[in-house]
Amino acid sequence: MLPRCAISVCHVFVLVLCLSSAEDFDWTKNDHGSFYYGTFPAGFSWGAGSSAYQTEGAWDKDGKGLSIWDVFSHKKGKIQQNDTGDSSCEGYHKIKDDVGLMKELKLNHYRFSISWPRLIPTGIKSDHINEKGIQYYNELIDHLLENKITPIVTLYHWDLPQFLQERYGGWQNISMVNHFNEFANLCFERFGNRIKYWMTFNNPWSVAVEGYETGEHAPGLRLRGTGAYKAAHHLIKAHAKVWHTYDTQWRAKQKGLVGISLSGHWGEPVDISNQKDIEAAERYVQFYLGWFATPIFHGDYPQEKSYIKGTCDFLGVGHFTTRYITQKNHPSARSSSSYFTDRDLAELVDPRWPDPGSEWLYSVPWGFRRLLNFVKSQYGNPMIYVTENGVSEKILCTELCDDWRIQYFKDYTNEMLKAIKDGVNVKGYTAWSLLDKFEWDEGYSERFGLYYVDFRNKNKPRYPKASVQFYKRIISSNGFPNQREVENWRRKAVETCSTSNQLLAAEEQRSTAANILRLIHDPLTSHMEMVTEIVVPTVCTLSILLSAVFLMFLLRRRN
Ligand code: NOJ
Repeated sequence: MLPRCAISVCHVFVLVLCLSSAEDFDWTKNDHGSFYYGTFPAGFSWGAGSSAYQTEGAWDKDGKGLSIWDVFSHKKGKIQQNDTGDSSCEGYHKIKDDVGLMKELKLNHYRFSISWPRLIPTGIKSDHINEKGIQYYNELIDHLLENKITPIVTLYHWDLPQFLQERYGGWQNISMVNHFNEFANLCFERFGNRIKYWMTFNNPWSVAVEGYETGEHAPGLRLRGTGAYKAAHHLIKAHAKVWHTYDTQWRAKQKGLVGISLSGHWGEPVDISNQKDIEAAERYVQFYLGWFATPIFHGDYPQEKSYIKGTCDFLGVGHFTTRYITQKNHPSARSSSSYFTDRDLAELVDPRWPDPGSEWLYSVPWGFRRLLNFVKSQYGNPMIYVTENGVSEKILCTELCDDWRIQYFKDYTNEMLKAIKDGVNVKGYTAWSLLDKFEWDEGYSERFGLYYVDFRNKNKPRYPKASVQFYKRIISSNGFPNQREVENWRRKAVETCSTSNQLLAAEEQRSTAANILRLIHDPLTSHMEMVTEIVVPTVCTLSILLSAVFLMFLLRRRN
């Protein structure tokens, strides 16, 4: 089977990492703890990101069709707490508010995605085009440009039209290549006069593996051993087709760039003197990022070499975390093969790595520099935009004083700065994400936002976390001037957030009181509801108020 061949080609393809490229830069000798004070190249672009299904809401408004995520999230037991993206952050109705937040941060760019079924309800262009959907993105783009924020647009951030899934099996079927190309062509036609940065796919790895192999994501299929490979094959072909469409029909007039956003953890060999561990770590990265990047940059893909090779004007890199990797033979590999058994490796983590939020997300800043250097040496130093990087929190109480996120952004952007000094061609950075939002199968339980969103309030108000203040400083200084100043930024950010915390606590008290009244009038109030809707928020509110009083007391004493 074709995609499997591609993977085995990857296996034998340049298996020595780190060591071979060490002469280019000295990160292998680097002390992981050292901080680099300095600035980014002039014109470096700072941004924040989101995606349609995670933030827009308005799932059935103004003629939008169903996506696979609408259907998947409505099935019981698929998403934490059975949450859905039905209303999410109500981003569809809050263009002005959200662009206001971006202005507050002084962002240079905003990365968002276009919902395919909002523009083409069935996914098939000849069926029907929804002009109201076009109008929404027109308004968003125009408003961004009026505020001097460059839009960076992803064409596919996982929300395939449900009709295409039901009729053809979605990305299992080759016909997606043409349907996606028609959708992309429509976007170029309607928005391309104002968009200069396009990305075909966001994290195709996740679409293939989590959508069609493990089934944790929509459409929830568990086609072990074939599902992910088939989907990836069609995704790669669809990417190339869209790039060619832009290249031949639009580039001369619109002068934009078309790339793809690939995600990848870094994989570090457990024992750097053990060849088997080195090879296993190489496989880990190749099975993630290389799976898509190798055909696109090297054309190392049977039959379609020249058509796919070179179809990337810039590379989007999404990165969050790192693993230690060691060689491991899966005993079951022969009887029931799958993407995971094919990789033949084991992942380990260092228990000292901080993990404030998502279970999988350990903060390992130095892995970021390594991954960026890997991209540089493997794919001919392409132009890179970091399309996602950030950290979540998983706490019951509302917390705007996100000191750990400040630490994460500080250290990860610093490693990116070191990578630029190593010669990696990084042009921009996108903090993930602008807002707390629907976090796929984790629902609203994991918050990645710079801005806190109160999902219990139907207006979905946004509140700045401390990291907003800190990120804003990095942006306005275009880097890290000196230790004293950077520490000052952090101290100030944490001080101001306590005021916002109090505001939010007051608002929550008000909504808790409203809930109490509602529950008193409802004779069917269960004990559980009392606990989750009254006791937990009240305890949270009280603890926030007490900490604020204590902090003020300490500050007074210091003065
Ligand atoms: C990558 C996905 O593209 C994004 O949608 C998600 O929020 C982050 N991972 C964090 O899980």
